[in-house]
Amino acid sequence: MEVVITKNREAASVIAADIIEAVVLTTPHAVLGVATGSTPVETYRELGRRVHAGRLSLAATSAFMLDEYVGLAAHHAQAYRRVIDEIFVRLVDIDPSRVHGPDGMAADLDLACTAYEDAICAAGGVDVQLLGVGTDGHIGFNEPSSSLASRTRIKTLTARTRQDNARFFGGDLDAVPTHCLTQGVGTILEAKSVVLLATGQEKSEAVRQMVEGPISARWPATALQLHPAVTVVLDEPAASRLDHIDYYRDTYANRLLRSPRAR
Ligand code: GLP
Repeated sequence: MEVVITKNREAASVIAADIIEAVVLTTPHAVLGVATGSTPVETYRELGRRVHAGRLSLAATSAFMLDEYVGLAAHHAQAYRRVIDEIFVRLVDIDPSRVHGPDGMAADLDLACTAYEDAICAAGGVDVQLLGVGTDGHIGFNEPSSSLASRTRIKTLTARTRQDNARFFGGDLDAVPTHCLTQGVGTILEAKSVVLLATGQEKSEAVRQMVEGPISARWPATALQLHPAVTVVLDEPAASRLDHIDYYRDTYANRLLRSPRAR
């Protein structure tokens, strides 16, 4: 796991964009794994700027979302498919028909989960997965106690996650769905590379557990320790509880391979 500590959220977002850009430049047909939440918004803006500057094109890529709420119609402002259109798709040149998410409105949700796994597999798997992390250590919507071998499935959201996400629903906790469909931890671990972005003090405990804690379903993000190609990009507050912060800074400053993939 490579840990990159940046001076602020903007700098972290640029590094995440650099990593995604490097994958697309070597693999124009790359399959991108895209996350919702507020954390990746600036990374998508940065990718959008690069596309508009003509230095990058996502026209040949496809994308798979991590998760979706159950029961929010596609036109709902907080349906993740609509959110990803808003924060990512409309800013870049990706073909919207090649952006996929699990169907949280399906009559048969189990079948929708299996179909989603099949679609990721048929696309050849995710080349680079962008991730955020929840304050309770969730990735995607894999809440604490999720199997670390799990596949795409229905999950019940914790009270904490619903509380955290109520800000997107005008502060109305009752409006936040209780269930979601999410790629499993095992699904996420099959991405060829992962870039996890975390900013802000409220993520510092989840970050500490993810990077330095024991692997445990209590903090599902700790499963990323098993993945051979993860870059964790942090701002100072998110990194503030790490024990080995000087080592991470030193390693990054003196990395031998001058590429974002170096670790
Ligand atoms: C959300 C999403 C995750 C996201 C996380 C953190 O509920 N399901 O994919 O990484 O929680 O969100 P934020 O970036 O807004 O803090």
